[in-house]
Amino acid sequence: MRHVLTIFDLTTEEIEQIFSITEDLKTKFLKGVREQLLPGRSIALLFEKPSLRTRVSFETAIMHLGGGSLFLGKDVGWGERESTADFAQVLGQYIDALVCRAKCHRRVEELAQYSQCPIINGLTDLAHPCQALADLYTLREKHGKLRGLKLAYVGDANNVARSLAEASARLGVRFAIAAPPRYQFDAEFVDKLRVEAPDFNFLSTADPREAVRGAVGVYTDVWASMGQEAEQAERAKAFADYQVNSALMKCADPDACFLHCLPARRGQEVTDEVMDGPQSAVIQQAGNRMHVQKGLLAWLLGAMDAK
Ligand code: CP
Ligand code: NVA
Repeated sequence: MRHVLTIFDLTTEEIEQIFSITEDLKTKFLKGVREQLLPGRSIALLFEKPSLRTRVSFETAIMHLGGGSLFLGKDVGWGERESTADFAQVLGQYIDALVCRAKCHRRVEELAQYSQCPIINGLTDLAHPCQALADLYTLREKHGKLRGLKLAYVGDANNVARSLAEASARLGVRFAIAAPPRYQFDAEFVDKLRVEAPDFNFLSTADPREAVRGAVGVYTDVWASMGQEAEQAERAKAFADYQVNSALMKCADPDACFLHCLPARRGQEVTDEVMDGPQSAVIQQAGNRMHVQKGLLAWLLGAMDAK
């Protein structure tokens, strides 16, 4: 059974296949063609945290492909009414795939262990693979290629940053992260990057200007993620020098685009000027969530059919 819980669950070739299906489906969609690749398929979304982009882009993607989606909230009682093993085995008989947004990555791994259908991570504390796929796809649209390009991430080494680093490692993108030392990737994650991609060009620095130098994509995310609301004030202080503003954008490649997974806290990690400025790709990036998830679903369910 194939699951996509992190980017490292996919090979470079598989990501390239997903991008190629995406490109085809996006081109057709923009011409008004909605190819029915998933007729009669049912895909459930099990969400423990709020969402606009992930939920709506998955639900519409599924609809456009001719399938049906079911949104499962708290009332299904995951982890409360019965064991995860029972929950996963029952659910897996009804649906063709499950998109799961959860507070704790380990619980999604446990679901995957028992699930008879593929599970796609729709965000956990440790990873946001669907976001990173759409982000790298957007960078590729902007620059016509990926290999050898530099992507800079300025801010907290969170779920989004981890998935971006993994996707960059898989696709030959040079990756730099700038964060205060205590908010950098942990040593275990850096080791994993080195093992998975020994040639990965990776820089970790406390200096945002160093990180963005030569970068064709400058990325940031909120300083306090969902579940870290109590740390908001402390993090705002720690990240005060890590705002992406016009001065920092000037240190990047002149053709650099600005990326953000959204939702953004304007005035904190990014200024209005950058969010709304000519280099901003955030709306295109959010739109690509739907297109790339179509590619991912078509590839994943197609791969399962081939078995
Ligand atoms: N970027 C993203 O995942 O947004 P949502 O939290 O709205 O799904
Ligand atoms: N890092 C953010 C991403 C939201 C899409 C969070 O986990 O809240």
